[in-house]
Amino acid sequence: MRGPQLQLDIELQRFYSDVMQSLSAFQRIVATVNKKSGVKAICEEVVGILSNELGLDHCSIMLLDESGHYVVNEAGVSAKDVTKGEPSLNRSFKIGEGVAGMVAKTSTPILISDVDQDGRFLKIESAVDIGSLLCLPVCSGDRVVGVLNLSHKRRNFFSKHHEKVFSILSVTIGHLVTFVCLQKDLEGLNRDLQQTIMERTREIEASHEYLKNIFENASDIIFTIDNEGLFTFLNKRVEDLGYTRDELVGQPFDSLLISEEGIRAFVNVLKQGGRKTLEMELKGKGGTVWQTLCSFTPLRNSGQGIVGLLGVAKDITERKMLEKKLLQTEKLASLGTFVSGIAHELNNRLLPVLVYSEILQESSLGDHELKLIKTINRSAMGARHIVESLLRFSRQETPSKSYINLNSVLNSVVNILYYRMSSGAIELKTDLDKSLPMTFADERQIEQVFVNIINNACDALEERGKEAGEITIRSYSADGEIFFEIANNGPEIQKERLGKIFDPFYTSKEVGQGTGLGLSLCYGIIQEHGGDITVVSEEGMTVFTIRIPVIAAGGYASHPVSDSREMGKAEERRDKKRILIVDDEEDQVDVMTQILKGRYAVTGTNSGQEAIEKLKNEKYDLIVCDVRMPGIDGAGVYEWIKEHRPPMVSRILFSTGDTLGPKAEKIISRIGNNYITKPYNAEEFLRKIDDILTQDEHLPNE
Ligand SMILES: Nc1ncnc2c1ncn2[C@@H]1O[C@H](COP(=O)(O)OP(=O)(O)OP(=O)(O)O)[C@@H](O)[C@H]1O
Ligand SMILES: [Mg+2]
Repeated sequence: MRGPQLQLDIELQRFYSDVMQSLSAFQRIVATVNKKSGVKAICEEVVGILSNELGLDHCSIMLLDESGHYVVNEAGVSAKDVTKGEPSLNRSFKIGEGVAGMVAKTSTPILISDVDQDGRFLKIESAVDIGSLLCLPVCSGDRVVGVLNLSHKRRNFFSKHHEKVFSILSVTIGHLVTFVCLQKDLEGLNRDLQQTIMERTREIEASHEYLKNIFENASDIIFTIDNEGLFTFLNKRVEDLGYTRDELVGQPFDSLLISEEGIRAFVNVLKQGGRKTLEMELKGKGGTVWQTLCSFTPLRNSGQGIVGLLGVAKDITERKMLEKKLLQTEKLASLGTFVSGIAHELNNRLLPVLVYSEILQESSLGDHELKLIKTINRSAMGARHIVESLLRFSRQETPSKSYINLNSVLNSVVNILYYRMSSGAIELKTDLDKSLPMTFADERQIEQVFVNIINNACDALEERGKEAGEITIRSYSADGEIFFEIANNGPEIQKERLGKIFDPFYTSKEVGQGTGLGLSLCYGIIQEHGGDITVVSEEGMTVFTIRIPVIAAGGYASHPVSDSREMGKAEERRDKKRILIVDDEEDQVDVMTQILKGRYAVTGTNSGQEAIEKLKNEKYDLIVCDVRMPGIDGAGVYEWIKEHRPPMVSRILFSTGDTLGPKAEKIISRIGNNYITKPYNAEEFLRKIDDILTQDEHLPNE
């Protein structure tokens, strides 16, 4: 019999050796976490270590399944001599059933020293021989995550201190399993996060690419400026100005501005940091000027402080040019209306002067009186020419176009102006394209354009003084258009004057030297021909460019020219033909009556209404009718005749004091050439009457 002291020593020794083995196992278990990944691998490693270090017959770890209702075998290892030669069963226990189920449920270890004597041990098929067993909960904090099963074929193998030591180990295993599970979850989350980051990065890259495309391919220059006014970013469009982006980044925005006014306006925007849209002229690299509409918006950082400006510069050069043209056209149109009104009045006043002075010349007057009358007639004719040119200016005169060579027109103008140029020591150089296509144009009008532009060039050179003046004229054609460049090496037309030179009545010449109508007339004429005139001026070189589209033969119908008929025919027919005169102005009726009286039976009326009354009751061979009248006008009389006296339609002679309105023009175009423009002289008037009566000869009489 062993003494109690010996028994205690043996117990202590056993305890000591168990603790040492447990610590060694503990150390090895903790080390597994560094090399193993996955719960199963860790569990397998742990059961291996436990059975090795602690000399167990069998060791297994069962873990709670996903449903939380079962503990399922995760890893197990058995000593060779205890296995029954069958593979370890993939065993599971319902929570609360069997030893493992009970431990999982109660979270309390169960030690069975003799399985045969303990009813808690279910006698179910086992892969190993079991004499005694120890089952411990595997916990993570308060939560049971599984059980640790330890068994030995010997009865009474496990003692109370085994229970304590293995309790510590099972807690460690619980932490280890939880740690690995968390690590797995973390890895999963990390993978998801990386996936999300990749997707977001792709989305950001796509939207960045999209925005970049918008920025780069925008039709406007988009740029940013810092608070110092220096460029920080520019889109590709800036290359249209001739600069590279690298050249401009870091440069001040106002280095691109041309006018002082523009610089001041920009400095204000920069100071105030507000939203602003300004028209600004930008300097291109090759000296080109860009008219732009610049919109500025403040750029803020996340703290809402202003860090600069976002700018968008829209090219409005073309729009500005069109606006200028439109303005010019409007100015000309309103002036034209005004001029044509005056011309109408003047013509009416001139008619009696012209006609009576002619009639008086035929009467028996003394030499002195005859001389006076001739002077009156000449002056009236002169005044008539002035009115004619005013009407021409008002552009209401229809151009008389023919198929011509513009080089020939220029040559004839140069011949006329040759004397002026040579006497002013101005050298003329011409470079005319011999193959210049012909076009439909009004020769006289184009002549006028050349004369005025060359005369202006001579004036500019003479104004400059003695230095050798030179005028260079070049013609060429391109893309169905004809160009004439008329250049002189005179002084620069200052920018503020350049915009005005096409304005009617703008002149820099002294009183009596220029009317200021020249260029506006030229502008109107060329515009009428479908082209335009532009000018570029710098010190020592001013170039006017005329552009006219080529109109092929047949493009325009030529103006009908009436046959001149001999006066003799009128003599034959002037017996008792009856003529009705309709004009709201008494003077006009008197003048016409004076011319016709004695030759025809003349009846005068002062309104359309009165004329219609006469026509209802009387027969006439011809009606001379004014176009513009209050109440029933010329068109009204025409409509009445067309309806009630159709054969008389071709016997109406319209008289007009100005150019024709669209309604009158339509009527006259229907009745042919039966109109006469005031002021006319007696001869013209009589010839016209005779023309109509003669052409009517073959018509059936009513
Ligand atoms: N080649 C040129 N060089 C310098 N200035 C010019 C030139 N051509 C025109 N100008 C300027 O344009 C103004 C207007 O010209 P425009 O032909 O319309 O009128 P004008 O010559 O003054 O008078 P007008 O032609 O009626 O006799 C001129 O007064 C002049 O200041
Ligand atoms: Mg002129």
